[in-house]
Amino acid sequence: MNKERINHVPHCLILPYPAQGHMNPMIQFSKRLIQKQVKVTLITVTSLWKTISHKNLSSIEVESISDGYDEGGLSAAESLEIYKETFWRVGSESLSELLQKLSTSENPPNCVIFDAFLPWALDVGKSFGLLGVAFFTQSCSVNSIYFQTHDKFIELPLSKSEYLLPGLPILAQQDLPSFLYKYGSYPGYFDIVVNQFNNIGKADWILANSIYELENEVVDWLVKIWPLKTIGPSIPSMVLDKRLREDKEYGINLSDPNTEFCIKWLNDKPKGSVVYVSFGSMAGLSEDQTHELAYGLKDSESFYLWVVRDCDQTKLPKGFENTSQKGLIVTWCPQLLVLTHEAVGCFVTHCGWNSTLEALSIGVPLIAMPLWTDQVTNAKLIADVWKIGVRAFADEKEIVRSETIKDCIKEIIESEKGSQIKKSALKWKNLAKSSFDEGGRSDKNIEEFVNALAQF
Ligand code: UDX
Repeated sequence: MNKERINHVPHCLILPYPAQGHMNPMIQFSKRLIQKQVKVTLITVTSLWKTISHKNLSSIEVESISDGYDEGGLSAAESLEIYKETFWRVGSESLSELLQKLSTSENPPNCVIFDAFLPWALDVGKSFGLLGVAFFTQSCSVNSIYFQTHDKFIELPLSKSEYLLPGLPILAQQDLPSFLYKYGSYPGYFDIVVNQFNNIGKADWILANSIYELENEVVDWLVKIWPLKTIGPSIPSMVLDKRLREDKEYGINLSDPNTEFCIKWLNDKPKGSVVYVSFGSMAGLSEDQTHELAYGLKDSESFYLWVVRDCDQTKLPKGFENTSQKGLIVTWCPQLLVLTHEAVGCFVTHCGWNSTLEALSIGVPLIAMPLWTDQVTNAKLIADVWKIGVRAFADEKEIVRSETIKDCIKEIIESEKGSQIKKSALKWKNLAKSSFDEGGRSDKNIEEFVNALAQF
């Protein structure tokens, strides 16, 4: 370790957007910084702070700020638009008060690493003289598309059938994030993803939870305009060695993960025989889609472990759980433990960025069933560029039929194409590990960041 670092004890504040897919990678990155002798304080909103502060964050200090909805967070707001606006206003004031308080502490912070979804945190941090660091929880490819939308290089509503954008393969309209090709569908989320770039020019660093090799061309393009470094995959080192044993090693669970139940069930299944199915923490399937998926899984005659969140349980076909001896349906699971379990042979996924990076880093082949937002672009890259999965395409009614799901499972498990995909998955797994390991590109980037922090 260099001398300055010992003398200065850098202190980073980490501010994720309050959602599972944002908390996980930023908490994991916090642990990485702590390993490199950086003090970290996680900042979360009061409603979440009440539920997470006592769980598995022993090495990270936690402070809270208000988003204006201390009881219930986003779910207590009238709409996402109102939540976003309130969080921006109340959060800025509350973060200022916290920074004021911390500035008189023994080891005051010198840096704020904020989720790019919360750009106002950069202005607050700068007003206290802190180093301002944006953290991308989504892929660089997707962020480059949103950036070009922000800067109007991509005009909305979309008018072309294909787009050739810097560092990306040719993308059909439907391969662009859903907020673009279904312009107007979720105005609140659209504003959040595009507003990430309002003040990005003022950020001292931009850290992206990605692996350079995965998106090298688009990263090379972005580093010409931004101080961007890839630091991913932001997951525990043990995962990459398949040694993860305790769920508490990873991020936080906003729901009970049913760990023992899931692992016990997986333990007596043959190697590579189980299809793991999950659509992340936000989007839900329609009832029709849930039925098609249920029968696709059943007809595939494979074992399956399917996460159906509490809010979606009523969409299951009546009595379905009792009709199949081969499935286990849970409301949430310890995803990394499941993906690293040798019984798991493939993953039917919505292609959320965390799920994508996790599976890629563990070498599990994917069946891509994107629902919205960045997931469609990730699905395109999964199937056609990284070749670590197959795409389960929807029909004209936007439903992926049971037959398609069954065929995709068989394709991964039994076909020659499936063997090629498994080889490709292994290649990416090794690349992810070498980037993460000491001296790898992501590790060096983190090291470079920590050294800059120490000298700031
Ligand atoms: C959201 C968006 O949907 C996604 O497209 C975007 O890239 C990030 O924000 P989410 O839907 O939650 O994320 O999906 P994902 O990014 O995959 O994150 C889900 C996280 O929850 C993963 O870290 C996964 O390991 C974890 N998880 C999921 C569990 O621990 N248990 C589960 O049962 C399901």
